[in-house]
Amino acid sequence: MGRLLALTLAYLAYLLAATIGSERQQHHVQHGPCSYTFILPEVEHCHPLRDFRVTNTLQRDSPSEAEPDSNESKQTKARKERPSLHERKLENLESAMENNTQWLQKLENFIHENVRSGMEEIKRTAVHTQTAAMLEMGTNLLSQSAEQTRKLTDVETQVLNQTSRLEIQLLEYSLFTNRLEKHILLQTQEISRLSDKNSFLEQRLLALEARYGRELQGLQSEKQQLQEILERQSRLVSKLQGELGSSTFNSTLLQRQQAMLTHTVQQLPSVNPRLLVFAEMSNMPKEESLTFRDCAEILRSGMTESGIYSIQLPNSTQTIKVFCDMKTRGGGWTVLQHRTNGSVNFHRGWRDYKMGFGEPSGEHWLGNDIIHKLTSSQEYSLQVQLKDREGNEAFSHYDRFYIDGEDSNYSLHAEGFSGTAGRTSSLTHNGTQFSTKDRDNDLCTCKCSQLASGGWWFEACGPSNLNGIYYPASTSVVRYNGIKWYYWKGPNLMATMTTMMVRPANF
Ligand SMILES: *[C@@H]1O[C@H](CO)[C@@H](O)[C@H](O)[C@H]1NC(C)=O
Ligand SMILES: *[C@@H]1O[C@H](CO)[C@@H](O)[C@H](O)[C@H]1NC(C)=O
Ligand SMILES: *[C@@H]1O[C@H](CO)[C@@H](O)[C@H](O)[C@H]1NC(C)=O
Ligand SMILES: *[C@@H]1O[C@H](CO)[C@@H](O)[C@H](O)[C@H]1NC(C)=O
Ligand SMILES: *[C@@H]1O[C@H](CO)[C@@H](O)[C@H](O)[C@H]1NC(C)=O
Ligand SMILES: *[C@@H]1O[C@H](CO)[C@@H](O)[C@H](O)[C@H]1NC(C)=O
Ligand SMILES: *[C@@H]1O[C@H](CO)[C@@H](O)[C@H](O)[C@H]1NC(C)=O
Ligand SMILES: *[C@@H]1O[C@H](CO)[C@@H](O)[C@H](O)[C@H]1NC(C)=O
Repeated sequence: MGRLLALTLAYLAYLLAATIGSERQQHHVQHGPCSYTFILPEVEHCHPLRDFRVTNTLQRDSPSEAEPDSNESKQTKARKERPSLHERKLENLESAMENNTQWLQKLENFIHENVRSGMEEIKRTAVHTQTAAMLEMGTNLLSQSAEQTRKLTDVETQVLNQTSRLEIQLLEYSLFTNRLEKHILLQTQEISRLSDKNSFLEQRLLALEARYGRELQGLQSEKQQLQEILERQSRLVSKLQGELGSSTFNSTLLQRQQAMLTHTVQQLPSVNPRLLVFAEMSNMPKEESLTFRDCAEILRSGMTESGIYSIQLPNSTQTIKVFCDMKTRGGGWTVLQHRTNGSVNFHRGWRDYKMGFGEPSGEHWLGNDIIHKLTSSQEYSLQVQLKDREGNEAFSHYDRFYIDGEDSNYSLHAEGFSGTAGRTSSLTHNGTQFSTKDRDNDLCTCKCSQLASGGWWFEACGPSNLNGIYYPASTSVVRYNGIKWYYWKGPNLMATMTTMMVRPANF
């Protein structure tokens, strides 16, 4: 039996060795004096959980089974030959086999366990290597990503740098803008301050203007008052002068009577020689019984003494007395106007100037009608003699002089100016009409005769008026109504002597 078992086991071991090969894993078991070597199955190439019952099947082999195996058939022949003993031995064998089988099963399980753990080990090492690779890759990746991150941070810092620069610039700009705004604000304030000041100044200017306007008005009203006073005074003076003139007239009336008497005496020289003596003693210029047109004719007739002579106007029987200047520039001058001490009032009306006033011996105006008749009968030249306070003498000469008749308001015509009393003629232009205080023919909207006093050829009101008020030499106030010969001594001449006289142009 033991031999059989051993044989069987050996066979089994052989089978195992044949099938598995010497390199297969083996397991040795010592069972009593017997030792067993088991060749362990390879897990990879078999499916033990399903086919392992083969051992049991082997255990249960019976002769009934028509096994082609020859060796089993021999065993079966042996059992048939000795049933009882063999059966018992078989049973033992069977149980042993059973135990062995169980044990093998255990073993197998154990081996399974071991194999599995080994496998797991193997698997684990594989995982380890893979993990290492993975780790390497991971570290690679990590390093790469670190590089990327570094680059990214670089870029980021650059961007941040740019941004901060931009922000700084923005800040600077905003600061600049702020400064500008502040500046503009300051400027605006300045401008408003200036405009305030300006308006203040304007107000002050307006106030000043108003004040000055008021003061000016006050001054003007004062001036008007002064003018009125002056006017009153000049009227008073004129009145006084008039009175003076009439008193002079009274005295000259007497003189004239005396002269007439002398004349009568002269006409009767043979009758009474004593009377002739009287005439010569009267110290008066001789008058010709012959009629003379003017002083030039008287001079030519042999009278060389300046004085009063009688002349007869052409186409007229009227005899008039004139003063003859027989000295100045060759003499022969018939005096038209004379002023010497302000004794005669020259602020008179139209009719006085027409007829003449004053006495030829003193201050007088020969009369416009006479002047017209005289100067229109032939060509006359005019001589104006002037003397100022200091005794300076000057003259103005006109080669041609005449005045129209009353129907032309005694219009003045004077040409051929020359002389020492100014470079320009102080007599007004051709055709200026004569004006008196009661007949205003001037070119001014005012009344020059009333303003400037006297009768004259006022234009508007012109540069001359020898018939203005005669002011005493002591007066120092500006007189706009005094005797005026503008181009000699300006607006107020203050002459101490004036004479207007004519003689024929061809003298
Ligand atoms: C049975 O076993 C013997 C010895 O092991 C062997 O020589 C013989 O060939 C086997 N019989 C058959 C039929 O295989
Ligand atoms: C089989 O095992 C059982 C229990 O393990 C034991 O009682 C029995 O004697 C063994 N049989 C053989 C033949 O060894
Ligand atoms: C920005 O970069 C420039 C050079 O690229 C450097 O000079 C400067 O200091 C940097 N500014 C900041 C704020 O990092
Ligand atoms: C002038 O004489 C007349 C008489 O001839 C007289 O009535 C008059 O008052 C005199 N005038 C003056 C100012 O003397
Ligand atoms: C003015 O002069 C005339 C003549 O020269 C003279 O007769 C007269 O008395 C004088 N009158 C005055 C106020 O001087
Ligand atoms: C004088 O009268 C004559 C004839 O009547 C006239 O031809 C002449 O023009 C007159 N002369 C003057 C100056 O009036
Ligand atoms: C002369 O004067 C009067 C008034 O003063 C005027 O009516 C008249 O027209 C004047 N004559 C001429 C010719 O201008
Ligand atoms: C005055 O009038 C005359 C003739 O009308 C002219 O020949 C002369 O030039 C004039 N003189 C002036 C100063 O106008």
